Amino acid sequence: MATRTEYLSISKRGIDFSSVPMRLFQKSKKLGIWDPMAFDLAQDKQDWALLSQVRRDDLLGTTTLFQAGEEAVTLDLLPLVMSVAKRGRLEEEIYLTSFLWEEAKHTEFFRRWLDEVPEIGAQDLHEYIGPNYRHLFFEELPTAMQRLLSDDSNEALARALTTYNMMIEGVLAETGYHSYSRQLEQGRLFPGLAAALRLISRDETRHIRFGVYMLQLLIQEDPAMWEVVQGRMQELLPQVLGIVGPPAPEEGPIPEGSSYDPDEMTEFAMTQYQRRMRVLERARTQTRDEVEEEVADELTEEFFTGR
Ligand SMILES: [Fe+2]
Ligand SMILES: [Fe+2]
Repeated sequence: MATRTEYLSISKRGIDFSSVPMRLFQKSKKLGIWDPMAFDLAQDKQDWALLSQVRRDDLLGTTTLFQAGEEAVTLDLLPLVMSVAKRGRLEEEIYLTSFLWEEAKHTEFFRRWLDEVPEIGAQDLHEYIGPNYRHLFFEELPTAMQRLLSDDSNEALARALTTYNMMIEGVLAETGYHSYSRQLEQGRLFPGLAAALRLISRDETRHIRFGVYMLQLLIQEDPAMWEVVQGRMQELLPQVLGIVGPPAPEEGPIPEGSSYDPDEMTEFAMTQYQRRMRVLERARTQTRDEVEEEVADELTEEFFTGR
C-alpha cells in the first residue's frame, strides 16, 4: 500500500484556487446543484398523450441512449478519479467530485422522466441500442477507463480522456442535444425535459472543458500525445457517426413522420469533431501559460456563468 510523505493542503503550496479545476469547481457548486426531482412534468405527460406513435418512438429512442450513456459515464468515471488521486493532483480530484455527482443526477433525471412520462414500467429498452452504440459504450468506454487502474502512463490517460470527454461528451452527446431540441421543437413541447436538458448540457460544458484542459496539458507537455489523441479520435469516429447517421440497411428506413434527420446529425457531429480536433491540435505549439489563458477567457463566457 502506498504511504504519503506530505499533504498539499497543509504544505507551503496550499490549494491552487486560481487553477482551472478549482475555478470549474466554484462554478459547479453554484450551477450544478439543481434537483432532478424538482421539475414539474405535468405538461410533459400531456404532450406525451398527444404525440404520434412515430414521434414517441423517436423520443424514447433518444432518451434511452441518453439514459444508458449517463449511467455509463457515472459508472466509468471512478478510474479517472483514482488516476488523478494517484498523481497527487488534488485540485483535479476536488473538481471530479462534482463531476461524478452531476453524472449521477443526470442518470437520476432520465429514469424519473421515463418512469413518469412514457411510464415505461418494466419495459426493457435495450431494443433501442444499436451495434455501434453497444460497441462504444459496452466495450470501448469501460475498457479505456478501466485501463487507468493498472496503467499509469500519460498515453492511457490521453486515450481515456479522448474517449470519455472528447468523443462521448464532446461529439456524441452534443449532437444528441441538437437532436433533442428538434424533437422537443425548441422547448415548445415537453417543457420539463427541455428545462432539465438545458441544465444537464450546462453541466456537460464544464465536464468537456475539464477533459479538453487535461488533454491540452498532456499535448503541450509532450507533442507525441497529439498522435495518441488524434489516433483515438479517428478510431472512434465511425462508431459515433454510426449512432447519429443514417440507419444500417438491416434496420429498415426511417419511418414517415419521424423528426430524425441523419444527414443534419452527421453534419453537426462532424462540425463538433473538427472543432475539438482544432483546439487540441493547437496545444502542440502552445506554452502552458497560453493554454491557461485560453481557458481563463472561456470561463467568463455565458454558459459557464449561467447568466
Ligand atoms: Fe451527464
Ligand atoms: Fe458529463
